[in-house]
Amino acid sequence: MAAIEVCKGIHSVGVLNPNMRVFDVVMKTEYGTSYNSYLVEGDHKKALIETVHHRYFNQYIQNIEQVCPLNEIDYVVLNHNEPDHSGSLAMLMEKIPNATVVLSQAGSVYIKNITNRTDLKVQVAKSGDVIDLGGKPPSFVSAPFLHWPDSMFTYVKEDKLVFTCDFLGSHYCEPTMHDQEITYLEKYKFAFKGYYDAIFGPFKPYVIAGLEKLDALDADIVCPSHGPILTGGGLLDYTKEMYKAWSTPAEHSEKVIPLFFCTAYGNTEQVAAAIRDGILEVLPGAKCELYDLIDHDLGEMGALLNSSDAFCIGTPTINRDAVPPVMMLLAHVD
Ligand code: FEO
Repeated sequence: MAAIEVCKGIHSVGVLNPNMRVFDVVMKTEYGTSYNSYLVEGDHKKALIETVHHRYFNQYIQNIEQVCPLNEIDYVVLNHNEPDHSGSLAMLMEKIPNATVVLSQAGSVYIKNITNRTDLKVQVAKSGDVIDLGGKPPSFVSAPFLHWPDSMFTYVKEDKLVFTCDFLGSHYCEPTMHDQEITYLEKYKFAFKGYYDAIFGPFKPYVIAGLEKLDALDADIVCPSHGPILTGGGLLDYTKEMYKAWSTPAEHSEKVIPLFFCTAYGNTEQVAAAIRDGILEVLPGAKCELYDLIDHDLGEMGALLNSSDAFCIGTPTINRDAVPPVMMLLAHVD
């Protein structure tokens, strides 16, 4: 992907990874991902927002240089330090050693360990701080636990545009980075939900707080660091509404008590059915479904588990241990 203009003075300079099928060991990514980065040009200075995965460094540099020479970059803003966004920082700083790295207080601690560099020129950003690029000063909003303690947003008021890193992102990859040009909308929505479940599901109260911060900014363009850019005329309202719905505690008129199991010869399934019958004797209105984990998506099962009033899980044993799908589902418990 080449550099793409988002609006006057702001370019997308990130890279696509259409072939990725597993992210961070545990996430299925059927539609690849992108490592987004953005270049903001003021009248006097320039700032990069995020870097990319270290394997894409050369392509990343080519994209930046389509917009400006590297030595014109004054700041590198890291809204979040996980290596899919900070992985190229150490190599980038070899090329622009005088640039200042801007990050949150927590991020300033992490980055020393991630880069093994203690000599970087670092500026800690607090909520309300700005960096003066000349005519277009990005400001910072603390957004902790979206999804690490270091997370923050970077806002460009003049363009009603906010960089949110992972927040409202998606592991989804199409040639253009614009929500209004997505070809396979249902696939995007599937990827968007899977991303939420895996990354933000454990942080629901912080998601609600993050949405309130976004609304206070009145942003019309959201530039995440994975997946398409979201706009007021496109999917921005949809994505915010979904995050709100998924993060608001469910109120059930009847108890929801799913029974998850794996079964090698049908015995564990029989036990699960007997437990279900017992629950229904006591709570006749309860929603009490059986789920064989082999037949269902683990992300969906995790979301169901975390929105339930109670759950049961059963497993046969192999060498005196639970089988892997059961252990993986338990790893999803918020
Ligand atoms: Fe996309 Fe939390 O890194």
